[in-house]
Amino acid sequence: MNLLVTGAAGFIGSTYVRGLLAADGPDAPHITVLDKLTYAGTLTNLPAEHPRLTFVQGDICDAELVDKLMADADQVVHFAAESHVDRSIDGAGAFVRTNVVGTQTLLDAALRHGVGPFVHVSTDEVYGSIETGSWPESHPLQPNSPYSASKASSDLLALAFHRTHGMDVRVTRCSNNYGPHQFPEKVIPLFVSNLLDGKNVPLYGDGSNVRDWLHVEDHCQGIDLVRTGGRAGEVYNIGGGTELSNKELTGLLLEACGADWERVDRVADRKGHDQRYSVDWSKIHNELGYTPKHDFTSGLADTVAWYRDNRDWWEPLKERAALESRKEQGKH
Ligand SMILES: NC(=O)c1ccc[n+]([C@@H]2O[C@H](COP(=O)([O-])OP(=O)(O)OC[C@H]3O[C@@H](n4cnc5c(N)ncnc54)[C@H](O)[C@@H]3O)[C@@H](O)[C@H]2O)c1
Repeated sequence: MNLLVTGAAGFIGSTYVRGLLAADGPDAPHITVLDKLTYAGTLTNLPAEHPRLTFVQGDICDAELVDKLMADADQVVHFAAESHVDRSIDGAGAFVRTNVVGTQTLLDAALRHGVGPFVHVSTDEVYGSIETGSWPESHPLQPNSPYSASKASSDLLALAFHRTHGMDVRVTRCSNNYGPHQFPEKVIPLFVSNLLDGKNVPLYGDGSNVRDWLHVEDHCQGIDLVRTGGRAGEVYNIGGGTELSNKELTGLLLEACGADWERVDRVADRKGHDQRYSVDWSKIHNELGYTPKHDFTSGLADTVAWYRDNRDWWEPLKERAALESRKEQGKH
């Protein structure tokens, strides 16, 4: 079986692929990774020499390349995306291109070659913001950022390919992930790497925004349950982490790094900042037996330890991002 995985040089996709490669057995798939290696992707996330892995550097918007790879694929798990909300506020173009047009390019090719299941990996952010309670999968989509609007668009396209063409498309919507190998622009690795470097950390607004934090391996477990046992045309929420305000999370990260609140800079709130996300994940639990395995306290401690022990992984990524940002500022 040949599994095409897009965006697996990034945080979640690489965790998913490393997990599948670690498990041998008669059902172990050959994995072809298609990744453009944007600023967010790095080959250091993948065991490049593994005999069951083929890496192809390329763009999911490249219809010719996608068609060629899809001709050899049996199934797809689609992670590739522009994934950082702040970047989508600075400019939405790359988000629409990759998240919407790229997904459509993959769906078209999968349809032509009869490939399925096609698991489309999405986010709880498509539902908007919720004050109390949790969203079921049937909740209307009310995305607020250009990032979540582009993800909602791609979810709808994916589901339309099921309704229109009968394609075996399955959509997952997960809460905030944490764990090793997350690019150091996202809040946990940004704060930890800054604190380890003796720098301050920026906290948005009053820090009251609430997120549900799920270990990346639990997300990957959910995705694989959907790939192997889910139903065509269905959406599955994946959650069950720990709800924390950004201020509470900051307190835990300061403590884990032996720092205090003097290291926190209060910065203007993110534009249109969603107040709270919360998914109802009873469907995947009842139907597919999904239950998160990681406890947040030890998961966070292990994650902080990983960043402490793996400077070689994040320092070059942070330096490259800082250089690109200086170049970008020079242009304006
Ligand atoms: N990070 C989270 O907390 C979270 C939560 C729920 C859902 N998701 C979704 O999971 C998926 C993966 O998220 P992540 O955090 O691993 O993202 P990431 O930014 O770490 O990785 C994205 C990967 O996609 C690749 N990519 C980007 N544009 C591409 C293109 N045009 N063609 C081919 N490859 C391209 C990048 O090189 C990178 O390797 C995304 O679809 C995201 O929306 C993320």
